[in-house]
Amino acid sequence: MRTYKQQVEEAVGFLKQHIKRPPRIGIMTGTGLGESIESLTVKNVFDYRKIPNIPVSTVQSHSGRLISGTLEGVEVIAMQGRFHLYEGYSPKEVTFPVRVMQLLGVKVLILTNAAGGLNLSFKPGDIMVIQDHINLTGENPLVGLNIDEWGDRFPDMTNVYDRNLSAIAERSGQACGEELQCGVYAGLKGPSLETSAETRFLRQNSADAVGFSTVQEAIAGVHAKMKILGLSIITNINDPDHPTADTVEEIIDVAQRASSKLSAIIQTIIKELAKDE
Ligand code: HPA
Repeated sequence: MRTYKQQVEEAVGFLKQHIKRPPRIGIMTGTGLGESIESLTVKNVFDYRKIPNIPVSTVQSHSGRLISGTLEGVEVIAMQGRFHLYEGYSPKEVTFPVRVMQLLGVKVLILTNAAGGLNLSFKPGDIMVIQDHINLTGENPLVGLNIDEWGDRFPDMTNVYDRNLSAIAERSGQACGEELQCGVYAGLKGPSLETSAETRFLRQNSADAVGFSTVQEAIAGVHAKMKILGLSIITNINDPDHPTADTVEEIIDVAQRASSKLSAIIQTIIKELAKDE
């Protein structure tokens, strides 16, 4: 049996045969947001099934492709479709793409997701810059033997989401005519949505949005010493005093409608980052 490290290295070895210039920015797109990188000049497209050892996404709204190319002249790699704990993937499988990005040379990781709004000043379609997260999944991708070559045993988590990148995101939002929200993302395992009591609990504990992704990837990204930007599309508002049933179709629909806006903002962010190339 090959080790996890060997499996990641094998995937990277395969990708390096095709991706000639190391990507600097990695983007992982969430539910309904696969198209949020419209302006990428595509060089390579890999179906996940073609990449050795990569888990295959089962959720319908995820296309399961890795794309490499340039955006504003910067080498970018994008994973359209991620792996979730609720699908039964382990934290190491969920963070496999982050490790692939790490070994390819990615320094900036942009994580996007669809999330439920807990802050009642938010509205569906808003975009929230993730300032911090609360990992309530009960899982952690760093459990087990530490791979010292990849990162520290006990990585510091006081600044997971890079302040400078967040400020650039806010300015980019404004440049695109969008006032971004900012707040704390609570990551749960899912797949069942929150009860009203859970929603109250999360709100009382300083969470502004809730979702089933991102925290594992962010932890691996910190371990890999990447600079991280998290962007949540608020697809629905969870008000425990006026509960409404949310359907996954509605969530995907709002996310898809917001994805052009997100694409424009990501492009503006990368344009800004290109300046210090
Ligand atoms: N809860 C969890 N995940 C989500 C939600 C929600 O309300 N909306 C979009 N993703």
